[in-house]
Amino acid sequence: MEGLWLCLFILAAFLGPAAPQETMKAELWAQPPAPTMYHQLMLICEVTGDRGPQEFLWEKQGSPVPLQKGPDSILLIPSFNTTHVGTYTCTVTSTQGRAVATYTLWTNDLTSSVFVFPQESQTAHVQVTLELQLPLNNFTVCLRSFTDLTRPYSLFSYASKKQSNEILLFKPKPGQYELVVGNKPLVFTVPISLGESEHICFSWESSTGIVGFWFNGKPWPRKGLQKGYTVGVPAYIVLGQDQDSFGGGFDAQQSFVGEISSVYMWDTGISNLGVRSAMYDSPDQTPIFGWRNFPYKIVGEVYLKP
Ligand SMILES: *[C@@H]1O[C@H](CO)[C@@H](O)[C@H](O)[C@H]1NC(C)=O
Ligand SMILES: *[C@@H]1O[C@H](CO)[C@@H](O)[C@H](O)[C@H]1NC(C)=O
Repeated sequence: MEGLWLCLFILAAFLGPAAPQETMKAELWAQPPAPTMYHQLMLICEVTGDRGPQEFLWEKQGSPVPLQKGPDSILLIPSFNTTHVGTYTCTVTSTQGRAVATYTLWTNDLTSSVFVFPQESQTAHVQVTLELQLPLNNFTVCLRSFTDLTRPYSLFSYASKKQSNEILLFKPKPGQYELVVGNKPLVFTVPISLGESEHICFSWESSTGIVGFWFNGKPWPRKGLQKGYTVGVPAYIVLGQDQDSFGGGFDAQQSFVGEISSVYMWDTGISNLGVRSAMYDSPDQTPIFGWRNFPYKIVGEVYLKP
């Protein structure tokens, strides 16, 4: 009996529409993924399973009138501010049907706060909860840290599923920073400054492999590594631990103890002026994420404090 139903089912599947259509789906995402106050933001409505002409209806929850209607799959917000926070809907219509996607825009300003990592731990960390859509050929990471650790520790660890050391900002010992791209390290020597916080920026561009490093706002001699490499996605980004696997594989002996703040990441290079602006939490270029809008999740014992 079951066999008969199965036969009928398979038969029905074959006798169905001659060319079965892939169902139309819509996905909504933001570029950059975390908005920065007074910077441009795009909401992108990506449609799969349909190549015909489409109409996009853009709406925001609580707004009585649609924001935009027409062939445009992008909603542009030229200068993001808190009035733009809310849930957006994109409804795509074509001859093949309809698909709906939603996205919630929010903002989370950590200016004048720091993460405190109170003690050595194998688990405690801050995860940057962000879905990076595009692989990186250029990037810059800036952050400030304050610690009296003299053993090795990790500040910023970006892993992909293929490579747990896509990007790593590591301090092997006082007076040294180790920067890693695609598992290849480079060391910069800096003054030993106990009792003072240290601001660093680290940039890399694939086309030349050139690495830029700034210590307390001052550019260090440039070096290079991993020319032609591409930093992969999806990314798992962690502060205060070194990932030896995607989202894990931490070593307490490399955990950070102290304070981390003013964390920024761009998918571009940076100028000396841009570095100084980041030091004062007023970035001139739009970051992928930054301290004025930091998407994070605390895991274990870490505190956000003024
Ligand atoms: C926020 O942006 C809207 C336009 O998108 C503008 O009308 C409004 O004045 C802005 N508000 C502030 C506080 O800048
Ligand atoms: C990366 O940087 C190089 C040189 O600064 C630039 O020419 C290129 O367009 C950038 N690529 C991307 C994808 O931003």
